Amino acid sequence: MNKILKGELESYLKKILSKEKPKSILIITGKNSYKKSEAEVFFNQISLKHTTTFYRKVEKNPYYTEILSFLKSHEEYSFDIIIAYGGGAVIDFSKLVALFKNNISVFTTDFQSSDDLLDTIPIIAIPTTAGSGSEVTKGSIITDVKRKLKLGIRGDDIFPKEAIIDPELTISCPENVTVQTGFDTFSHIFESYVAKKSSIITDRYAEEALLIIKEFLPKCLANRLDIKAREKMSYAALLGGVCVANASTCLPHRLQQAMGGVIDVAHGKGLAILYKSWFKIAYPFKINKFDKFLNILDIDGTPNSVLENFMKKIKMDFKLSDIGAKKSNIDQFIDRVNGNIDNDPIDNIDTELMRKIYLESF
Ligand SMILES: [Fe+2]
Repeated sequence: MNKILKGELESYLKKILSKEKPKSILIITGKNSYKKSEAEVFFNQISLKHTTTFYRKVEKNPYYTEILSFLKSHEEYSFDIIIAYGGGAVIDFSKLVALFKNNISVFTTDFQSSDDLLDTIPIIAIPTTAGSGSEVTKGSIITDVKRKLKLGIRGDDIFPKEAIIDPELTISCPENVTVQTGFDTFSHIFESYVAKKSSIITDRYAEEALLIIKEFLPKCLANRLDIKAREKMSYAALLGGVCVANASTCLPHRLQQAMGGVIDVAHGKGLAILYKSWFKIAYPFKINKFDKFLNILDIDGTPNSVLENFMKKIKMDFKLSDIGAKKSNIDQFIDRVNGNIDNDPIDNIDTELMRKIYLESF
């Protein structure tokens, strides 16, 4: 069940907990999102009524070593429910704890499970950013620092049982997080719209989300406290998550994931770096669909300039060189591309095409 609330998180979560009656709750948060909100008081109240364990250390990425060390230090614990309170990384981290806690022995080093019937812990996802949509997807990205590799883990087991979206929680997001997560939402709806797996339903959701992003992302940036704009962007992020869950993403997400294992960059920023080159190559493969999407932005110009102007308007105009990448890194990036690339509108994607996109993004 997904619910959008305004400032009513506390009462709604209490209702869920009184229904579920968990004996033991694990609350996972980020370092920053937690401190900047009033959640500490609220979660302390929960801990008076339930046996509660806190983990407040999740950073930008869910690291495999961090998950292993969490599992090791909590071997003796058992949890009935996980509350994931934070941005996409916190929710992804929580999904991995939920999945691995009782099943670690059935996973290979590439995180493939040998068992279909896994004993996973239900998750209540409470996003504090409007972007990843992870609260309504069955995917999680794990970072293996040793191998400089990011891998996607997907399955119905990690689809959150409840997603509670309270736009007031996103007010504390600084401008860079707001725009990077907002661009992530933009990329979810754009890629799902031109994906081979797109459908009439995901297309309608994507069109509605784009109308919202066009109007309200700039408003969030102009006034951090604009609650109406925050509420709209939370809704757009939710729609984006539903699009990803049903139509998935395309090549930019695969290339960003590969590059993110080598260079530390925020997901939304990494996507923005690759977008212009990918767009130029992908456009001829689905002209009508691309045109229809860009027309919603209502900006005059050629398809390329419409996208470029939109990205400039929301200050997401970056190059690979801006994040310290070198052309000599490209082979490492290509070696790390994994996941489904057949969903992209571009037919017959090969390593040369990937190289071209990375090169043009410098
Ligand atoms: Fe994404």
